[in-house]
Amino acid sequence: MNIIYNEENRAFFLETSNYSYVMFVDKADSLRHLYYGKKIDHRNSDFSTYQMATDLSFAPYPENFGCLESLSINPREFSAFGSGDYRVNACRIAKENGTEVTSCHYKSYEIFDGKKEIKGLPSSFADTQKCRTLAITLEDRFSGVEIILYYTVFVDSDVIARSVKVVNSSNQTVQIKNLMSLQLDFFHSNFDMVYHCGIWANERHVNRVGIKQGIQGFKNSRGSSGHQHNPSFVLASPSATENCGDVYGAMLLYSGSYSVEIEVSELSETRALIGINPELFSWELKSGDEFHTPEALLIYSEKGFTDFSQKSHNFLMEHVIRSPWKHKKRPLLINNWEATYFKFNDEKICDLAKEAADLGIEMLVLDDGWFGHRNDDKTSLGDWFVDTTKIKNFKAMVQKINSFGLKFGLWFEPEMISVDSELYKNHPDWVLCVPNYPRSLGRTQLVLDMGRKEVVDYLFDSMSLMIAENNIEYIKWDMNRNLTEIFSSKLPANRQGEVAHRYVLGVYELHERLLTRFPNLLIEGCSGGGGRFDAGMLYYVPQIWCSDDSDAYERIAIQLGTSLFYPASTMGAHISACPNHQTRRSVSFEFRGAVALGGTFGYELDITKCSDEEKAEIRNQVAMYHKFNDLVREGNFYRMNENFGEESINSYAYVAKDKSEALVILTQKINVPCNKQQIQFVRVPDIDDDALYEVNGEYTLYGSTLKNLGISSERTLFGHATFGMYHVVKVDK
Ligand code: GLA
Repeated sequence: MNIIYNEENRAFFLETSNYSYVMFVDKADSLRHLYYGKKIDHRNSDFSTYQMATDLSFAPYPENFGCLESLSINPREFSAFGSGDYRVNACRIAKENGTEVTSCHYKSYEIFDGKKEIKGLPSSFADTQKCRTLAITLEDRFSGVEIILYYTVFVDSDVIARSVKVVNSSNQTVQIKNLMSLQLDFFHSNFDMVYHCGIWANERHVNRVGIKQGIQGFKNSRGSSGHQHNPSFVLASPSATENCGDVYGAMLLYSGSYSVEIEVSELSETRALIGINPELFSWELKSGDEFHTPEALLIYSEKGFTDFSQKSHNFLMEHVIRSPWKHKKRPLLINNWEATYFKFNDEKICDLAKEAADLGIEMLVLDDGWFGHRNDDKTSLGDWFVDTTKIKNFKAMVQKINSFGLKFGLWFEPEMISVDSELYKNHPDWVLCVPNYPRSLGRTQLVLDMGRKEVVDYLFDSMSLMIAENNIEYIKWDMNRNLTEIFSSKLPANRQGEVAHRYVLGVYELHERLLTRFPNLLIEGCSGGGGRFDAGMLYYVPQIWCSDDSDAYERIAIQLGTSLFYPASTMGAHISACPNHQTRRSVSFEFRGAVALGGTFGYELDITKCSDEEKAEIRNQVAMYHKFNDLVREGNFYRMNENFGEESINSYAYVAKDKSEALVILTQKINVPCNKQQIQFVRVPDIDDDALYEVNGEYTLYGSTLKNLGISSERTLFGHATFGMYHVVKVDK
């Protein structure tokens, strides 16, 4: 971990464990990006010869300078609107005189140990001795406003945390119209864009397309990060595979609307931007005010996608997720949603709990329908008090469940309000809408204006009361629609552009207050399944329900896709009934167990209706969870086939960091006659060559044999939705 400034050439070197990130200030005071890749030397750093084109017509240059200083060519570190950099830009600030022309001229820098928190927003953390920060101050010469770029390098990782702060050091009021969290430029465009695509119940499939001249990317204007894409992107060399090739990526610690733009210029240079979606954003800054963007994490590996993902997983685990649960085995839960939907009462819930206790399950989670008078999805959101027609005495019910040896968890959807609710009768103005104009419903509900303090106060009080009075140890925090008519009756006309971001700040504040009051509370994020699965949320919650699609067959691609950035311990995964409620597909109980093992693990079916055989299998699975969860949660994750689970056959592995054991899971979705794949040799990645390992407690082989020749899968793959599991444990020779 190092940050070096070469005074003579005004060059900055960020050195992560394995890589260098280099930029320098050119003659015209523009901060130019030079390099991000394997380590290069920081001595002899006169970089003036690294130049795209010297004499390009229609490339304007600053007065008193020449073509070499044209902003429309060469990689830049942070580009502003209107001064001749015609590519997509990272910064646009409107002034009192009406101009939005902005400049980012180099002014000064500072290097300090540690890292500053970003007030009200999630941000990565480390002890002061374990990270260092470079802060480069740029100046908008059209106003005097300062734009500070932060880069933090960490002792134990190849990740660079970046964010941007604007300080209004001018004496006029300005409006930020666009402020990206990260810009990453390259001299070339030899890249594929790799990114998540999906829809409700089918999130985070990985898409890969070549980039070409023009702008490609995706934008989210839903107010929350959404099922459709993820606030992250990857640029990978076209030849990159799981095990080789350049993979650059960035992910935003943010749960609201965002934009990802990748532009290839006429000179085949590439620019990537990620940050708050400017279409839904503006922010007023009076003289002396500041605004800080969400943080973005920049990750690079020259060793392909698996290594890239491991860097991301490790970083999230060590420097983003704060929950005291992150390194702990989570209570093995049963959730009543797919078992009962809205049709339950205290008796039914206690029956489920009793059976669950008998099978070794550790927590019962009561899902939607326990509050107000909610018997379907049309009423009562906001009324966070018990429906006593269903549950006569809530506290007594929880006590009874606790007496079976089970913890108790509860579902909330804090950010929402039903028109048919007490809350709406009392506070119709708490809704996000343009008063007296049409408004949109989603799942018959409206969205609360989370930017208002009184809304967050109400939610904190009512949720805290339920949690404290009833010994609630887990909550499932759901969010079942996206924002529309984003307008707050609390803010003046010229500040309506702030509402969407203030909403996200309100959501974060409610999380923070609840976690301060209940530090051990385990919160599982959820948004119609995995509709808000992002690194911002993971700062508050250690796990997120991965998808409403609980079909194990479908889950393979969803979970392997999610693993591009996010570790197994963050993925909510349950075993549900068959035929599956989303797809009507039936697969074996064992197959469902093997797939759910790759996430937090739990059940979501009416176990009182399970056959004796199924109950016996549940007992096996409970034992399997206890045996393997430490390895799944803490081990390094390897995808051993290309295409992120989209193929029929996939194997993936969890390898202990000390290489003492590994678990390889091989799955096949569909079978074909005379399938040549049926006899597979399953390789075990990254174990010690020279050590002896026992395979499934049956025989031993050397690490080098397991790694290179593999384990014979013995026709495991006969049939649809079949799997094999191979556990290798190091033994003394
Ligand atoms: C969402 C969640 C489900 C369930 C329902 C309840 O769809 O993703 O798991 O909690 O809401 O209404």
